[in-house]
Amino acid sequence: MTVDKIYLVGFMAAGKSTLARALGQHLGWRVEDVDDRIEAREGRPVASIFAREGEAYFRRVERAVLLDLLPLRDAVVATGGGTFVDPENRAAIKRDGLSVWLDVPIETLIDRLPRGGVRPLAADRADFERLYAVRRHAYQQADLRLDASREPTDGLVEQIVAAMDA
Ligand code: S3P
Repeated sequence: MTVDKIYLVGFMAAGKSTLARALGQHLGWRVEDVDDRIEAREGRPVASIFAREGEAYFRRVERAVLLDLLPLRDAVVATGGGTFVDPENRAAIKRDGLSVWLDVPIETLIDRLPRGGVRPLAADRADFERLYAVRRHAYQQADLRLDASREPTDGLVEQIVAAMDA
């Protein structure tokens, strides 16, 4: 089966958006970012959607954005950290394209996270660690796992391209 859609999944700050841009450029495909689409649709940042409407509302918008992206081909999609965790979203993604998990150790993620709360679910360290542990089970269901902690972006692009040709 020819791959014509790739979803990058994984925890916050794993590098999904950065890799999506590099991979899209390499393949000559369009690049879509779920969080960017949510913000465009809502006309406000993710943090404000969480703060004002709550997480359940955010997840509904996230689902709607994902469904809008399904018809696209020749596309790389950077998902949000929670997108693939939802069972219905995950099933839709798995039916639609190749899912690639960017696996990064929690220490690296904590080092990467900017202070100042652009990521509502990263505000509390203990909650962040709990979420990391719980979500791994969902991410493990991706078609491909990449150890994304040390490899530079170019190397990750090469690994994905090799898996597409396999
Ligand atoms: C979330 C991750 C964020 C964003 C929102 C919720 C999560 O995306 O969708 O803050 O549930 O892990 P990134 O993975 O791009 O940070």
